[in-house]
Amino acid sequence: MRPFDGRRILLGVSGGIASYKSAWLARLLAQAGAEVDVVLTRGALEFIGAITFEALTGRPVHSDVFARGHALDHIRLPREASAIVIAPATADLMARAAHGRADDLLTACLLAAGDPRTSGKGVLFVPAMNDQMWSHPQTRANAARLREIGYMLLDPEEGMLAAGEGSGPGRMPEPATIFAHVGRLLEPQGELARRRVVVTAGGTREAIDPVRFLSNRSTGKMGVAIAAAAWRRGADVILIAGPVEVDIPAGVSHVAVESTEQMAAAVLHHLSSADALIMAAAPADYTSAVRIDEKMKRTTSSLQLDLAPTTDILRDTVSARRNGAVIVGFALETNDVLSEGRRKRASKDLDLIVVNDAREAGAGFGTDTNRVTLIARDGSEESLPLMQKTELADIILDRVEARLGAA
Ligand SMILES: Cc1cc2nc3c(=O)[nH]c(=O)nc-3n(C[C@H](O)[C@H](O)[C@H](O)COP(=O)(O)O)c2cc1C
Repeated sequence: MRPFDGRRILLGVSGGIASYKSAWLARLLAQAGAEVDVVLTRGALEFIGAITFEALTGRPVHSDVFARGHALDHIRLPREASAIVIAPATADLMARAAHGRADDLLTACLLAAGDPRTSGKGVLFVPAMNDQMWSHPQTRANAARLREIGYMLLDPEEGMLAAGEGSGPGRMPEPATIFAHVGRLLEPQGELARRRVVVTAGGTREAIDPVRFLSNRSTGKMGVAIAAAAWRRGADVILIAGPVEVDIPAGVSHVAVESTEQMAAAVLHHLSSADALIMAAAPADYTSAVRIDEKMKRTTSSLQLDLAPTTDILRDTVSARRNGAVIVGFALETNDVLSEGRRKRASKDLDLIVVNDAREAGAGFGTDTNRVTLIARDGSEESLPLMQKTELADIILDRVEARLGAA
């Protein structure tokens, strides 16, 4: 099962220098299982050929509102689409859409898709243009109007513009980022929509001297999967992460930390506004008791390291929790796994604890899979089979949504 199986996406491409990137977007969408109907403006046809999109999507490409035998394409295409994405959206296309024009197939489709506030069909504009065009008051006003109508707009990124044009805001985000936003557009919006979710991920590092540290084998995969899934469900996500070995997902606000103390401070800072806190990080439990400012020299004699416990983030931030916030912890154990999980859940006053056995194959650090037991506040225990961390992320968020809904 691919994420967009059974979904039809209308991909509108207008005529800008970034049009070539939309071929890659079409490919990503098709590979994810979507049926992609591409609509090219006259401008887009100056930049990229229809045949490229036909080959990538395996479907006919549309560009003419008056094409013989296709009289009702402007009604049918938006009706059959689960979502509409316009990438790139030129300044001119934005102006036409903001003023309700329907003088080409793409703008006619936009109107025929109906009122975006009631149609249940998300529409995403991805503007891309020269920085002066983007900052022009006309374009700003058109962008504001499009948002007011209920369309989503992805702000262009800063970066290199067309050849010889230097850099500035106007660049189209990379296809993978747009793809992630399409995932959010397609996701049914439940209890997490517009909620603030704080997720921690990865291990922390405790300095021994300026070049060495204590840490653990956490890669951040579980926490990052949860952050990505929460954002897709419409949440406003803050990901507080130690060094991780996976990419930070699109859309989340990333707070990079190194030590357990820094992670605790960041959690404390964001907790008072959080509807949910999901502590999937593996903060180091011990830190060096003495501060060593210079690199320790190698010697032939043995060495004793004096360690002190770090702060217990979940326990020490209990008083900063917002009333009704859902708090989820993780426990990675190697023995007495379940009884340790039960003890930790109670001692840290958690709504849910996700317990796993570090010694079990396919579970714990580094793997793409996990096998866990969920222990809830009411004492119920749910033993889940081995599954992808991305699947587990959704199950954990289902439980979080159920608690938020019940509150
Ligand atoms: C080389 C070249 C690059 C262009 N790049 C952009 C661009 O990145 N963004 C934009 O809004 N317009 C750009 N334009 C202008 C549009 O192509 C022009 O406004 C056109 O009418 C847009 O048509 P459409 O919106 O129907 O696709 C560019 C024009 C040329 C000749």
